[in-house]
Amino acid sequence: MTAQGEHRAAERPLTGRGAHLAVELPLTGRGEHLAVDPSLTGQGEQRAVESPLTARGEHRAIGLPLTVQGAQRAVELPLTAQGERTPVEPSLTGLERTALLTAALRAAETSRPDRLYTDPYAAGLAGEAGWALLAEVAAAGRRRTAGRDVPSTPDFNAIRTRFLDDHLRRLTREQGIRQVVSAPAGLDTRAWRLRWPDGTRWFEIDRPALLDHKRRRLAEATPRADLRTVAADLTGPDWEQSLHASGYDPTRPSVWVLEGLLYYLPEDAVRRLLTRIAACSAPGSEIAADLVNTAALTLSDMRPLLAVFEEWGTPWVSGSDEPEHLFDTCGYTVTARQPGDEEADFGRWPDPVVPREVPGARRVFFVHGSLRAPR
Ligand SMILES: C[S@@+](CC[C@H](N)C(=O)[O-])C[C@H]1O[C@@H](n2cnc3c(N)ncnc32)[C@H](O)[C@@H]1O
Repeated sequence: MTAQGEHRAAERPLTGRGAHLAVELPLTGRGEHLAVDPSLTGQGEQRAVESPLTARGEHRAIGLPLTVQGAQRAVELPLTAQGERTPVEPSLTGLERTALLTAALRAAETSRPDRLYTDPYAAGLAGEAGWALLAEVAAAGRRRTAGRDVPSTPDFNAIRTRFLDDHLRRLTREQGIRQVVSAPAGLDTRAWRLRWPDGTRWFEIDRPALLDHKRRRLAEATPRADLRTVAADLTGPDWEQSLHASGYDPTRPSVWVLEGLLYYLPEDAVRRLLTRIAACSAPGSEIAADLVNTAALTLSDMRPLLAVFEEWGTPWVSGSDEPEHLFDTCGYTVTARQPGDEEADFGRWPDPVVPREVPGARRVFFVHGSLRAPR
């Protein structure tokens, strides 16, 4: 569907659904319901098809089989002849658009009967552009050389969101932390979709264009925390100033959430950012983040997925094999979990968890921990 609400969909029967995931997508604002079958089977097969679309000149499309209000259709998501994403959200840079992908993943999760969380805003935030990006990632899964889509993107994303939901609820309810800093916030909607204790101040840091896009899309929604947005570049010189100006109190404990960011930053930038966060955090403050290991940046079965991120201009450039050590050098004592570990499984991780001592395996880590007292 285009931004104007036209249908690009073509009738196509859904066949062979069998073991496939089928998800219902509530499209906020239009009152319609899509059920998308992204066709990721238990074996990680990918059923998305590339079809020549002569009517759109040089454009090709990836077709995702969908049911729209009970009728079966395929929605075609436009790609250029080079397989690039059509610039359907031209106001955003490649880096900012990764937030649309994450929103599309959350919309897909929301539609599953066995969902780990519900994000009623995600589909509206993702829009057509988010689905196009998700289709590209799904197609990369189809091109991979062996094994599952890595790191099992939909499951990883669902687990990450739920893991951090639970963790933030614990820290605010049981540890009394009343400042949450989402850095970067992207199109995350925790401040809207979850209840937070009275007095919780919620800071969303992201780049100005992305926050503007989010503000417009969420204009009708009411946050359930005292929301403060901070338009800033986390690698720039002065985000601390903007954060403080928005009401952040560096003398009170805070929890920082670095979700979906660190692999886009070179290692020295990761260290600088963590050190700067530590410097403006009070004793008793916490941090949580996700990151990949170094093998995930090079292994051959990661290449198709990595190539998509490169095409978008958002390559994954860093990872850590010892996240505890990395965070320790920046002032934090953290625990690292892999999806599938206790507390990070939720009955959803499809693969065996490769023990940390086994070298060469691709990994993603969820880390969380506390600011260390100065030594
Ligand atoms: C994959 S999204 C994840 C965002 C969010 N945590 C979520 O789960 O939706 C990555 C986000 O990082 C933001 N971002 C990347 N580099 C940034 C930087 N240097 N400063 C601020 N935001 C940045 C992008 O604008 C985008 O919104």
